[in-house]
Amino acid sequence: MAPLPTHFLFFLFLFTSPALSTPSHTHRLQSEPSDEAFTSVLISQNGLDFLKDLLVTKAISSIIPLQLPQIEKTVKIPFVGNVRMVLSNVTIYEIGVPTSYVRPGDAGVTIIASETTCNLSMNWYYSYSTWLVPIEVTDKGRASVKVEGMEVGLTLGLENDGGTLKLSLLECGCHVRDILIKLDGGASWLYQGMVDAFKEQISSAVEKAIPKKLEEGTLKLDSVLRDLPKEVPVDDNASVNVTFVNGPLLTNSSIGFGINGLFTAKEKALVPRNSWNFQLPVLCRDPAKMLGISLDEAVFKSAAALYYDAKFMQWIVDKIPDQSLLNTAGWRFIIPQLYKKYPNHDMNMNISLSAPPDIRISDNNIGATVYADLIIDVLEAEEVIPVACISLVIRGSGSVRIVQNNLAGSVKLSDFSMSLKWSNIGNLRIYLVQPVIWTAIETVFVPYANSHLAKGFPLPIVHGFTLQDAEIILTNSRITVCGDVSYAEEDMLRHSLLFDAF
Ligand SMILES: *[C@@H]1O[C@H](CO)[C@@H](O)[C@H](O)[C@H]1NC(C)=O
Ligand SMILES: *[C@@H]1O[C@H](CO)[C@@H](O)[C@H](O)[C@H]1NC(C)=O
Ligand SMILES: *[C@@H]1O[C@H](CO)[C@@H](O)[C@H](O)[C@H]1NC(C)=O
Ligand SMILES: *[C@@H]1O[C@H](CO)[C@@H](O)[C@H](O)[C@H]1NC(C)=O
Ligand SMILES: *[C@@H]1O[C@H](CO)[C@@H](O)[C@H](O)[C@H]1NC(C)=O
Ligand SMILES: *[C@@H]1O[C@H](CO)[C@@H](O)[C@H](O)[C@H]1NC(C)=O
Repeated sequence: MAPLPTHFLFFLFLFTSPALSTPSHTHRLQSEPSDEAFTSVLISQNGLDFLKDLLVTKAISSIIPLQLPQIEKTVKIPFVGNVRMVLSNVTIYEIGVPTSYVRPGDAGVTIIASETTCNLSMNWYYSYSTWLVPIEVTDKGRASVKVEGMEVGLTLGLENDGGTLKLSLLECGCHVRDILIKLDGGASWLYQGMVDAFKEQISSAVEKAIPKKLEEGTLKLDSVLRDLPKEVPVDDNASVNVTFVNGPLLTNSSIGFGINGLFTAKEKALVPRNSWNFQLPVLCRDPAKMLGISLDEAVFKSAAALYYDAKFMQWIVDKIPDQSLLNTAGWRFIIPQLYKKYPNHDMNMNISLSAPPDIRISDNNIGATVYADLIIDVLEAEEVIPVACISLVIRGSGSVRIVQNNLAGSVKLSDFSMSLKWSNIGNLRIYLVQPVIWTAIETVFVPYANSHLAKGFPLPIVHGFTLQDAEIILTNSRITVCGDVSYAEEDMLRHSLLFDAF
């Protein structure tokens, strides 16, 4: 059961958002004041069933073939006498799990597999001698054994241990109801002797071996969970803090997690500390969706603050559709003072952010307000001479979509306002330059923003799992993504422990 259970919990990692709920039930993840969760994740019953099926399949393939210890016994058989019997190379080579279910509860997550069957093969050997036949009689052959009606149950404890998930096996049991033995060859007395003598022993060997394997698997899975990264890279400069801060919160049909979810600078720790009262549910319209992830507005604000702080949000505009407007000659009659001071000089515009962009999420709308300074430069030989600065407040509306496991978006310009900050060329009547600035924003700024937003940033989804049929719900101050997931084996093998990142 080694590699398998690992993946199962990975999956759990998927789920992070400010808090979780579905129409049928609302969960609130309360947090310590200092440890807010800005992203919440909810795994619904359907999500748990999906994980459970995956886990059971993986568990079976990692358990088999399972070698059990050799069994030996001396049996008294009527008319034959004392017979020494040995079962060797006892191997479980097939396990069938027709029905299983998973239930989260106060104590942990319980998984029960019932009506489980188990096929074993083994070599048998016997020897005896009696006073009738003083020489030793021996024989050997193969036997196949079917274990039927086996119940396997385990309860996994899941807790947040300083920001990582800790998994433990709280309970594990295996009970064999019935056993059928079939011999290849051998005498009929032998068959009955085997059944009588070994039924108990084979049962108890199976009942011991399976929980032991499950325990090993749980330990491996736990170590994988502990090794999960606490940050998921977004690009060269930013990553998302995926430290678990709340939960796990178990109800009778879901598991919820809270993660920090904020953007942090790659190199330096940038901590935007809003005093924010964490209490957000995950709201999915369709409770059948396997997974819900809610992201608080604070996640987007932290991204905005981070990129603003990184200081590379600067654009030099030196090409516009009407290039004549980037020469003072083009402004000869509009701003005579500019032309007089710098006749026939080329110009450019230097746009930089003057404050972190503000992002507001409301019902069915995402609004962004960008504060920027636009400096008009005159180019003289090697020199760049700033001649005026205009403050811009640019408003746009955004839309989001899912691209694989990323939340991507785009913005549309709604309007902008501007005011003169300073000028060396007299009192600029800025409405006269408005069309040029509008063009600069539309041809440079908006495409730049959209090229970044088109890539989006990774939702906390474990590699190998892909979001499907996702729907996005915008509500007051939060974005919720609800969807199903699929699982691709090859991806998991290639990067078993890595998150999707671009
Ligand atoms: C990530 O989040 C955790 C929990 O909120 C916090 O303790 C930690 O300082 C954060 N890390 C960074 C780099 O901001
Ligand atoms: C032991 O059992 C396995 C699986 O049934 C079989 O492939 C192998 O040949 C057996 N080995 C011996 C020595 O009988
Ligand atoms: C294993 O046992 C099951 C149930 O007894 C049976 O249906 C199946 O055919 C067996 N598989 C093999 C390979 O013998
Ligand atoms: C990362 O920051 C550097 C400057 O610090 C900048 O040149 C680069 O474009 C940034 N990368 C991304 C993907 O934003
Ligand atoms: C889960 O709990 C709710 C009440 O908290 C109850 O109404 C519901 O029947 C329970 N569901 C299951 C599957 O036990
Ligand atoms: C653009 O303006 C910013 C802010 O005033 C300034 O720091 C930067 O050096 C300017 N860039 C160029 C290339 O002139």
